[in-house]
Amino acid sequence: MPKSALSFVCQNCGAAYNRWQGKCDACGEWNTLAEEDITGATTMPVSIRSKRKGRLFTLETLTGQTQDAPRLSSGMTELDRVTGGGFVRGSVLLVGGDPGIGKSTLLTQATSLLARAGHRAVYISGEEAVAQVRLRAERLGLADAPVQLAAETSVEDIVATLSEGTVPRLVVIDSIQTMWTDTVESAPGTVTQVRTSAQALIRFAKKSGAALILVGHVTKDGQIAGPRVVEHMVDAVLSFEGEGSQQFRILRAVKNRFGPTDEIGVFEMTGLGLREVSNPSELFLSERDLGSPGTAVFAGIEGTRPVLVELQALVAPTSLGTPRRAVVGWDSSRLSMVLAVLEAHCGVKLSGHDVYFNVAGGLRINEPAADLAAAAALVSSLTNAQLPTDAVYFGEISLSGAVRPVAQTSARLKEAAKLGFGRAVLPESTRGDVGGDAGLSLNTVAGLTTLVADIAARGQSRSGKATDPEKNATPARFRRQDG
Ligand code: TYD
Ligand code: MG
Repeated sequence: MPKSALSFVCQNCGAAYNRWQGKCDACGEWNTLAEEDITGATTMPVSIRSKRKGRLFTLETLTGQTQDAPRLSSGMTELDRVTGGGFVRGSVLLVGGDPGIGKSTLLTQATSLLARAGHRAVYISGEEAVAQVRLRAERLGLADAPVQLAAETSVEDIVATLSEGTVPRLVVIDSIQTMWTDTVESAPGTVTQVRTSAQALIRFAKKSGAALILVGHVTKDGQIAGPRVVEHMVDAVLSFEGEGSQQFRILRAVKNRFGPTDEIGVFEMTGLGLREVSNPSELFLSERDLGSPGTAVFAGIEGTRPVLVELQALVAPTSLGTPRRAVVGWDSSRLSMVLAVLEAHCGVKLSGHDVYFNVAGGLRINEPAADLAAAAALVSSLTNAQLPTDAVYFGEISLSGAVRPVAQTSARLKEAAKLGFGRAVLPESTRGDVGGDAGLSLNTVAGLTTLVADIAARGQSRSGKATDPEKNATPARFRRQDG
């Protein structure tokens, strides 16, 4: 009896099993196994398996002539920044993100701009009808762009159509989950279909030299066959993020064979589509609660760009046995570490308090340099002492309570000065890096204890003389920038 071709495939990671089980051993997800017919995907007909000896090819050295990958600018600076300077010919990009975040909007804008610039740009929608895509383009004011549009889902038909005429410079497939190919039996949307369809499309891109963008939905529960399996096959993976309730959208490279992965592109979703935000600091600081306790401005670096962002902390006595620690936009173990250092070295008792921590604007911070600003926000909230409204903070905190230097001090200071800040609180050992005139007054701290004492003193003097106008006034420099 022939072995059954049916198999159970994890819809999260693509691992295959020959019987059903509740948990995938490979990725640890529960309830992600689905029955699939993977005949065509895994076994090749005997007639194709050849008996010939392998072809000989020449092996190269690492040195030698290299050409820069030919790039095509998308016409959107923020998108180009994340891809590393534009779309590379024959490369494949996967754009992931939650449904409704704005992937189709972003790619409609990008294809339209390319088409307007005279390139052949194709947009294939497997989710929406042509009329819906047209409506969106109209809303974006791009209806006149000569984009080639289709609502198709058959990979064979798509590849055949694209192979006709001049090679397209950009092909958008929205989304890869809706694509299906005749070569495998599984239902559209299953891992096997997604993987095989992606393979066929990628083969077309590599052969023709067209840049290909695949859109993929990511759901946390792993219900839709994730683009996870596709991630390994593509050249770059971009993730489009943002809080649904907020207007900001951040495009981030998770993987990039042709460029850096630490750059972010910042967009704002408006009624007229995505607007590029070339100065993110203004965005992340625009709605500051000037001078309320628990907020500190962090002078950070995203990729090559300095970004000023507000950190917010709320420290409140707990009513639970185990105090709550809730973090949005920062690493929770990093927060625990800062809290532990505050307790151990600075005598700040936080074990009886709930701690809530938030990075404003939906940004996600990965830099250790945020430690000092986070600590300042936490202590400020605990002591109810407002921090100076014209100060920025940066520096890494070590477990011993020392404040360690971080890279790119002058870029951070320049951005702060540009936005009207008057002083910076920074690690003592970086003073040398600053050079001559930093444009703002520098308040260096060697250890976290100094910072805590400073903030606590502010709180006390404020509660002593609550009406002191000097202390609570918004500094003139910041007022001008804010107004
Ligand atoms: P869409 O690009 O369809 O998201 P995705 O392809 O990632 O699922 O965008 C969906 C949301 O964007 C939708 O809720 C409406 C909003 N939107 C705007 O606010 N302004 C616009 O100009 C457009 C086109 C969409
Ligand atoms: Mg969409």
